[in-house]
Amino acid sequence: MGRMKFLVTAGPTREPIDPVRYITNRSSGKMGYAVAGAARHEGHEAVLISGPTALDVPPGVDFIHVETAQQMYDAVRDMARDADVAIMCAAVADYRPVHVSHQKLKKSEGRILLELERTPDILASTRAEFGFNGVLVGFAAETQHLISNAREKLLRKGCDMIVANDVSLPGIGFGSAENEVTLVLPDREIQLPRESKEWLAMRIVEQALALLP
Ligand code: C5P
Repeated sequence: MGRMKFLVTAGPTREPIDPVRYITNRSSGKMGYAVAGAARHEGHEAVLISGPTALDVPPGVDFIHVETAQQMYDAVRDMARDADVAIMCAAVADYRPVHVSHQKLKKSEGRILLELERTPDILASTRAEFGFNGVLVGFAAETQHLISNAREKLLRKGCDMIVANDVSLPGIGFGSAENEVTLVLPDREIQLPRESKEWLAMRIVEQALALLP
């Protein structure tokens, strides 16, 4: 197999409320950084598009830092066309504040309401709008109906594989070093053992490469 180009998204996004506040989530970015590192380790090119994390960029991986879902969307749109494999591990915020205050919001005694709107779905746009025609891999973090939700996502978002992650199991998923996932393909499922995110990243990269034409 030749040298392939991987595009990987990772980490949370940060959606500003005012100059000092934002909405985010508990994603550590570990799974995505491990995937980019695994692709590079196997001799491929990797560009990692990541929201804010505390992690070191794996050696040899090209890095694009973003904060918001919109910035991640723009970066993926710019990089997707010439990638062979795209693996979307980012925990993109589903909602962002409609109005971003230019000044720090002052507190008062009463309640306040924060109006939120949807962010763009980067994964769903990758094949449909960005002209990407390689192997597309998404993640599905679910607390119930794991496989059926993953299958629905596979179809709706135009993916070739969904990495399905039961985030209700203790000790895995968000923030932890280990994970337990099922690879959901159009015609089958591959249940992987509970293992380090680095080990699982290698299996995900291998399986994505096996789907290349
Ligand atoms: O729909 P849901 O958020 O559960 O889908 C998860 C998958 O979609 C992940 O691969 C995630 O990176 C991707 N996603 C995205 N842009 C969004 C929301 C999710 O790329 N706005």
